[in-house]
Amino acid sequence: MNQSVAHEAKPKPRKRVLSGIQPSGDVQLGNYLGAIKGWVDRQDEKDNFFCIVDLHAITVPQDPHELRHQTRSLAAILFAAGLDPAKSNVFIQSHVPPHAEACWLLNCVTPIGWLERMTQFKDKARNENRERMSTGLLDYPVLMAGDILLYSADEVPVGEDQKQHVELARDIAERFNRLFGDTFVVPEPVIPEAGARVMGLDDPSRKMSKSFADIRGHAVRLIDEPKEIERTINRAVTDSYNEIRFSDDPERSGVNNLLGIYKVITGKTAEEVENDFASARGYGDLKRSVGEVIISELAPIRARYARLMDDIAELDRLLSLGAAQAIAVSGPKVDEMKERIGLVLQGDEL
Ligand code: TYM
Repeated sequence: MNQSVAHEAKPKPRKRVLSGIQPSGDVQLGNYLGAIKGWVDRQDEKDNFFCIVDLHAITVPQDPHELRHQTRSLAAILFAAGLDPAKSNVFIQSHVPPHAEACWLLNCVTPIGWLERMTQFKDKARNENRERMSTGLLDYPVLMAGDILLYSADEVPVGEDQKQHVELARDIAERFNRLFGDTFVVPEPVIPEAGARVMGLDDPSRKMSKSFADIRGHAVRLIDEPKEIERTINRAVTDSYNEIRFSDDPERSGVNNLLGIYKVITGKTAEEVENDFASARGYGDLKRSVGEVIISELAPIRARYARLMDDIAELDRLLSLGAAQAIAVSGPKVDEMKERIGLVLQGDEL
């Protein structure tokens, strides 16, 4: 082989991907279609880190017993959904101390005004008594910036609602780089074309959310039984137009949401989706088909989930492999941050 051919054959380095998900409430279809499915589909092409963000979850009160269960349950869901430990490092955030350390270091370069302007914080602050709200809730996006920047992530695949937080991570990275010299890769948010904002089935004007997953009819949970999924979809709010087409009209957002879910799961184009329903007799037919595609997508995940939850020791072993890889990357990075800032590292030469 001559040299130029050998040179061309050299594979391009894979893009580093990091994303996270909170172990608070039951994982729902929006989490899956907006984030997890994309992580799984692209794990072969990327260098992957996925973090179960338990430190983010405790920014609001949690029952300790429930939190421990939800954390392992979420890990089982991620593996069951198809994250392969040979290709993706899946780990629990609190197992990797550099996350909390990076948060503190970044706190000291992040103006409070940036945090007070975050939409998610403003929404929460509106509904909560400030005297009871934790400081963690305001600081939440800085912890998230640390999650991303510690891994020099090129890409952060998230649903639409997290885009602003990833943009803040970019701002924090740029500010740190300006103050202390080039330290961080400035990450890009990657938002899926379809599925980035799955709406509540009971109220298509608000996004589907883990926090409301217990409310009857709001969400399809990833490990719901087929009968339950059928019931939830049958109950989904629609409209009185009786027309099965994609539309921007807010009054028709219920049907639009159902079509959107069908589109992401089947991987069809909008035109193909509308064709599938050209001879449908009404919303009953639409709901039946949407229910069926969801059930066939989720059934294998549910079965694998049950097997994984039967062997917690194995699940914990997989998580500790992920944590070891995460520490190998984030440990040196947090030391680099400290060094740049002027902290004396333990064992440093004089
Ligand atoms: P979380 O746990 O709320 O959600 C996990 C992922 O699911 C996406 N998502 C949705 N996508 C479409 N439609 C919906 N209705 C819907 N609901 C949720 C979210 O956008 C997210 O991608 N702060 C993050 C967790 C986090 C993180 C990170 C993410 C912590 N550190 C570092 C990326 C990188 C959160 O609360 O996601």
